[in-house]
Amino acid sequence: MDKAMRIVSVFRFLSIATITTISLCNGNLGVPCEQNERQALLMFKQDLKDPSNRLLSWVGEGDCCNWTGVVCDNLTGHVRELHLGNYYSDEYLNYSLYQESSLGGKVNTSLLNLKHLSYMDLSNNDFGGIQIPSFLGSLKSLRYLNLSDSKFAGIIPHQLGNLLSLRSLGLRSKSYYILDEVGVANMTRLKVVNLRWNIPQWLYTCSNLESLSLYLNLLQGEISSSTGNLTAIVNLDLSANQIEGKMPNSLGNLCKSTVLDLSRNYFNRSVSEILGSLSGCSSGQMESLKQMIFQVHYLIS
Ligand SMILES: *[C@@H]1O[C@H](CO)[C@@H](O)[C@H](O)[C@H]1NC(C)=O
Ligand SMILES: *[C@@H]1O[C@H](CO)[C@@H](O)[C@H](O)[C@H]1NC(C)=O
Ligand SMILES: *[C@@H]1O[C@H](CO)[C@@H](O)[C@H](O)[C@H]1NC(C)=O
Ligand SMILES: *[C@@H]1O[C@H](CO)[C@@H](O)[C@H](O)[C@H]1NC(C)=O
Ligand SMILES: *[C@@H]1O[C@H](CO)[C@@H](O)[C@H](O)[C@H]1NC(C)=O
Ligand SMILES: *[C@@H]1O[C@H](CO)[C@@H](O)[C@H](O)[C@H]1NC(C)=O
Ligand SMILES: *[C@@H]1O[C@H](CO)[C@@H](O)[C@H](O)[C@H]1NC(C)=O
Ligand SMILES: *[C@@H]1O[C@H](CO)[C@@H](O)[C@H](O)[C@H]1NC(C)=O
Repeated sequence: MDKAMRIVSVFRFLSIATITTISLCNGNLGVPCEQNERQALLMFKQDLKDPSNRLLSWVGEGDCCNWTGVVCDNLTGHVRELHLGNYYSDEYLNYSLYQESSLGGKVNTSLLNLKHLSYMDLSNNDFGGIQIPSFLGSLKSLRYLNLSDSKFAGIIPHQLGNLLSLRSLGLRSKSYYILDEVGVANMTRLKVVNLRWNIPQWLYTCSNLESLSLYLNLLQGEISSSTGNLTAIVNLDLSANQIEGKMPNSLGNLCKSTVLDLSRNYFNRSVSEILGSLSGCSSGQMESLKQMIFQVHYLIS
């Protein structure tokens, strides 16, 4: 699949090069990755557990742009994307297959040398309850970060609030399932404390954020009225938490939402009350919001 991507980008390059009649020496279309970025990836790999050897191709002096999961800028050769999500989730029928293909271990700070990284998917892996590395907040060019269901635990580092380019942040967690498996007798103090996420205030200052997923995160209490500050959001998933009480009026600011999933929480406000609080949305936006809210009402018990 990565090869295919590479081939597609070479073809794209070819057609644009033809149009603009750039002359290409040696017929060498691919721009190889930079030495320091290759080193960074090798270091990153060294600290990872990779039981099924998914990163087999990550070796040697070759062009790291054709390594599994690595996508480079087709013109500059800078590493732009890391697609390292695990194809098998832990809900997949074959749990051992999921375990085998999970990456784990530590996330090496060498990633900071990938100055042009804009997309990183680490979803569905198993980092064994370590905290989300705060240095990720220094990857300034990140637009997409998906750490969903990768068994990170603890608080969300506030440094992520420095990711001003971020458009999409995946922090879904099925940590409950870890608890279930481990069993009550095995709930050590750390496990209980670490599994409790708090929705941090600074998250609401990320005004460019379009997608935020916090499914099953043991979020508690009422939805902050600051949720209305996420004015760019079109996809907000707060389902299956322990959010309770009333919906804040400011949710009505989320006019552009295409997904607003608040199901499986404990709201106690009626649909008409919620609709009454929506203001400033166009009638079309209102219609689609109504449907989403109806869904919430339908799903709560
Ligand atoms: C390079 O990739 C970008 C986005 O991935 C694309 O928009 C652009 O057309 C590509 N350029 C060439 C020369 O292939
Ligand atoms: C990457 O490219 C190098 C040389 O261009 C080649 O030798 C190697 O087999 C390629 N690796 C993969 C995984 O395609
Ligand atoms: C699950 O995957 C493992 C590893 O690929 C394989 O050895 C095993 O046979 C599979 N089990 C089932 C029930 O498919
Ligand atoms: C990153 O990896 C390098 C090489 O394996 C190692 O020397 C270094 O200690 C690691 N750094 C961190 C912060 O883990
Ligand atoms: C993150 O990855 C998961 C699993 O691969 C996927 O279902 C989810 O849609 C992704 N989240 C975002 C925000 O893209
Ligand atoms: C929890 O359970 C796991 C697996 O059953 C075991 O390896 C671990 O030692 C247990 N931890 C504690 C603190 O009992
Ligand atoms: C949300 O916006 C309001 C009005 O602009 C502002 O007063 C408040 O501080 C913001 N909240 C956060 C958490 O940024
Ligand atoms: C709804 O929840 C709020 C906050 O938890 C509480 O003050 C209020 O009494 C509840 N209303 C009803 C009708 O249960």
